[in-house]
Amino acid sequence: MMKKFLDLGRQPIANAYLTKEDFANEFFYNLEVGFDEETKLVSLINQIKPEKMFVDDYPYHSSSSSTMKNHFKEAAQTIKTIFGNDVRVLEIGSNDGVFLKNFDKNKAVAVEPCKNFAQMTNEMGYRTYDEFWTESLAEKICGENGSFDVVYSANCLCHMPSVFDAYKAIFKVLKSGGTLISECPSMFSVLKNTAYDQLYNEHPHLLSLTSTNNLLKEAGFSMINSTDLECHGGSYRVFAGKGNYFAQIDGLDKEKLAGLHEFSTYERFAQKVEKSKTLLRGILEGVGGKTISYGATAKSSTVFNYCGIDSSLISYIVDTTKEKQGKFSPGVHIPIISREEANFDDVSHIFLGAWNYLKEIREKEKTFNGNFITHVPFPNILPSA
Ligand code: TYD
Repeated sequence: MMKKFLDLGRQPIANAYLTKEDFANEFFYNLEVGFDEETKLVSLINQIKPEKMFVDDYPYHSSSSSTMKNHFKEAAQTIKTIFGNDVRVLEIGSNDGVFLKNFDKNKAVAVEPCKNFAQMTNEMGYRTYDEFWTESLAEKICGENGSFDVVYSANCLCHMPSVFDAYKAIFKVLKSGGTLISECPSMFSVLKNTAYDQLYNEHPHLLSLTSTNNLLKEAGFSMINSTDLECHGGSYRVFAGKGNYFAQIDGLDKEKLAGLHEFSTYERFAQKVEKSKTLLRGILEGVGGKTISYGATAKSSTVFNYCGIDSSLISYIVDTTKEKQGKFSPGVHIPIISREEANFDDVSHIFLGAWNYLKEIREKEKTFNGNFITHVPFPNILPSA
């Protein structure tokens, strides 16, 4: 049974950037979050249909940061090292091909429902199915390509309406000794960092190792191993094989100690989230000068809409993504401009909409004389580097 523990209020579609003409028809929903006592899975109570989010001009590029480009290159190298250069890989959620491009064109197949990206990787020479991941698509892919040694999926299974159904479909395309490798933001890190901004419409579920393990078992898999990753502010990579066997997973013990299987842990998290909102508003109202935000991220859409932060507190957002520039952020309608258009001479503070790339941003903005503000792990003005 799902029990509600958090209400982040009225929220827009996080990656739907708008023109002024779009304001009147903007879609909102109530972002409430619950915990399933049986599977231990954290999920949004009101879920948005995938067709409304993963549209044909979807603006999020996985290669929009050098951090993620390096990450996917390393992930591909790890797979080749473990499984050999001839490994046959199916990627689910291939976005702009940042992972795929590290494999031979005849060894990797992809699934990507956003047609803009599917077209891009098809043109790069990788067979890409522009459909949502389902059991019937799994059967079709298997029929046309045979089964795979590895299914890789990064930041994608948590986007799906049913993670369990996604696992069942993956079971169908994997060879009998095949391996599922899945990466997703970790609930453990969300709790540790009070990173409530990982909660938005595109993440109908936030997975812990505990819930992942329960769902995998139910779908006929066993978790073989897990690794903690730094990306997206704390993720994990899970390896799972078909069948029923035992492996010692240290992360599961760590999560048990931290109480990720207990509802009361999430109730305490909700209290911290409320405190975070009060503190962040206090900082932004108190700093004076001009504050802007760095990265028009889906995460910052949750923060701004939950905390009621609009252009009276954040003058504009800079972002490198062409499709976002010249538009307004969802819900609170803060203008988005390119870094080149922005002049930081009169900017006293930068809020880190993309706090997960702090190192990369500091590196790029060495000449910025003001201070960065973050809300993670608690609202704070960071000392100059
Ligand atoms: P990410 O945290 O991946 O976004 P989300 O919360 O939507 O998953 O951040 C990616 C966004 O940040 C993308 O729109 C590009 C932007 N960005 C910049 O504009 N400049 C930068 O230096 C970096 C690292 C990211």
